[in-house]
Amino acid sequence: MIAWGCCFDSGPADRSTTRQGPLSYNDTMRDSTIHWMEELPGYQPWPPADELESVFSFPVALDGGGKRLVDEVIRSQGAECLVLEVGVFLGASVLRWLEASEHCTVIGVDLWGNGWANIIRRYEREAAPWMKIVLEPLGDEVGTLVNSLESNGSLRCSLKNLERHRDRFVAVRGDFSALAADLSKHVSPTLIYLDADKSAELLQACIDHFPDATLTGDDWNWGAELGFPTRAAVNDVCARHGWRVEVERSTWVIHK
Ligand SMILES: C[S@@+](CC[C@H](N)C(=O)[O-])C[C@H]1O[C@@H](n2cnc3c(N)ncnc32)[C@H](O)[C@@H]1O
Repeated sequence: MIAWGCCFDSGPADRSTTRQGPLSYNDTMRDSTIHWMEELPGYQPWPPADELESVFSFPVALDGGGKRLVDEVIRSQGAECLVLEVGVFLGASVLRWLEASEHCTVIGVDLWGNGWANIIRRYEREAAPWMKIVLEPLGDEVGTLVNSLESNGSLRCSLKNLERHRDRFVAVRGDFSALAADLSKHVSPTLIYLDADKSAELLQACIDHFPDATLTGDDWNWGAELGFPTRAAVNDVCARHGWRVEVERSTWVIHK
């Protein structure tokens, strides 16, 4: 467990501390009195443990393969690792990063909208083959998850799945395109995992606002009929900047 778990204490923040520029891991270590996550735009505090007790949830995994490439970068970054994940859904990939290294902390950005219950219901009804695989581990509890998403909301269901890592996960709710500039004034992630909409704009926002982060993501093979938009956007930025992309199944990592 990393030491900046102390930042989650509920004691009073030292508001007299003025910080210049975004926080990196080392800055946080130097001044653990700053409640840095409270300054993030869209920051969602953890609910008290008893409020999550009765929430049913399950980290439904949308895994197209190759995530070991990201595990490797996380482990290579050691104690410096600060992951920004764009597109958290129910937290399955966040759980994976947190478990890949006990040193890494993850800031997760998502809209956490309320459409997921209906999406799962629809896919279940239509018996989409990929959704069948995704929901299989839930057995006959799919309806329980749908009801829980409706009554608790997707953010709470996501937090329930990540609860055992309270000290290493920070939730930020909102549209990443709108938040990126502001977020970059507060944090300097070492790695970004992009798994939200498939637009080139989100990738460009990562490059513009987080130039030092290693860029990784999902969806390399998504959208054949649309010309593989993620692949096209990643190839385009690599060509423009002279970067190299490593790909395994649906996962990509840019080497600068
Ligand atoms: C494919 S799911 C993420 C799956 C998750 N990474 C996992 O592996 O379990 C995509 C998520 O991106 C979120 N999303 C889409 N566009 C977004 C945006 N512009 N800003 C923030 N989140 C967004 C959606 O709400 C959704 O939960």
